[in-house]
Amino acid sequence: MSTALEQATRLLAELTDAAAEGVWSAPGRVNLIGEHTDYNEGFVLPFAIPHRTVAAVARRRDDRVRVASTFAEEPVEVALAELDELFPTAPGSAPRVAEWAAYPLGVAWALRQAGIESSGIDIAIASDVPVGAGLSSSAAIEGATASALNELWGAGLDRTALARIGRRAENEAVGAPTGIMDQMAAMLGESDAAIFLDCRSLDAVTVPVGLADAGLEILVIDTRVSHAHSTGGFRERRASCERGAALLDVRSLRDVSTSDLARAGRVLDDVTFRRVRHIVTENQRVLDTVRTLREHGPRAIGDLLIASHASMRDDFEISVPELDTAVEAAVEAGAIGARMTGGGFGGAAIALIERDAERAVTDAVRAAFAASGFAEPTVFTVVPSAGAGRDT
Ligand code: GLA
Repeated sequence: MSTALEQATRLLAELTDAAAEGVWSAPGRVNLIGEHTDYNEGFVLPFAIPHRTVAAVARRRDDRVRVASTFAEEPVEVALAELDELFPTAPGSAPRVAEWAAYPLGVAWALRQAGIESSGIDIAIASDVPVGAGLSSSAAIEGATASALNELWGAGLDRTALARIGRRAENEAVGAPTGIMDQMAAMLGESDAAIFLDCRSLDAVTVPVGLADAGLEILVIDTRVSHAHSTGGFRERRASCERGAALLDVRSLRDVSTSDLARAGRVLDDVTFRRVRHIVTENQRVLDTVRTLREHGPRAIGDLLIASHASMRDDFEISVPELDTAVEAAVEAGAIGARMTGGGFGGAAIALIERDAERAVTDAVRAAFAASGFAEPTVFTVVPSAGAGRDT
């Protein structure tokens, strides 16, 4: 099988006779801990994975932009000026272009909105980040496109600014009300380190995870239950958080601490309270995980991962039976910790395991899925990997 880089290069050659200017790529991510905290201005601890999305790019002589993807039959082409009519997409409605094309075109639009001078471009995209698995295939497209255009359009933006461009594309062009975690992970990833991000200040610190030295691995269990964050549940959870913050009279749930929860319980209805409690305790768990990693290493964070999953299952209610089964079966088979990762309502779980337990845990998860009548999950290991960059 050819690599995403070869596929993107070939697709570009089919699209245009013009010489490729270069190839850029950006990774997907898993989140070690800190779920739904990003848009509450809280803390997250994701890391970039080896799976990447690749954008091969050529200049055009006219003022048009064309995007092609190995996932789509036909390229999408518009005049650069037309981008300003296509976007923003009205909240809750579908983009006026094919959804996959709204990611790269949305990045081009967001750069123009930021005052960057644009010129005609052809972009060919290929990816080995699983789509709909909660591994941020969308932020990978945004990161690869933003990195390419940053250079070709001479924008000179730094990595954090490019992450903001990617989030703007996701929020306003695609119409998904997500936070900035995925784009920051795609831009800032480093090998063997997680990114400890304060989503209020966007200050980011890399935290060594030390998996290999400890003889550990991270297993991804993709349930293959597909999800989309532009719809339903994600938007509804975000609204609950905003309601909770308003009723507690704070700017965001970042400003609520665990010692405030007793009062919150008196002020809020049961559902809003449980949504708030997830965010508040999850922020604390991120801080605890960073401290524990630094002081005791990765073997000591298992209980925090397990507590995070329980909070998402019971308080935030974003898990599904397949994710719960993956986590329970992994832990029963000896995983040190496990939790769903990403936005929820499907997607993937991660399990922290001893390197030599990979077979046993994988088999146990597969058997548990079969016993419950679920479709077979896709199981693979990941290591913290590099962020977006130029490949050729
Ligand atoms: C999705 C969003 C992120 C974040 C997570 C949940 O991945 O894109 O911004 O909100 O869900 O932690």
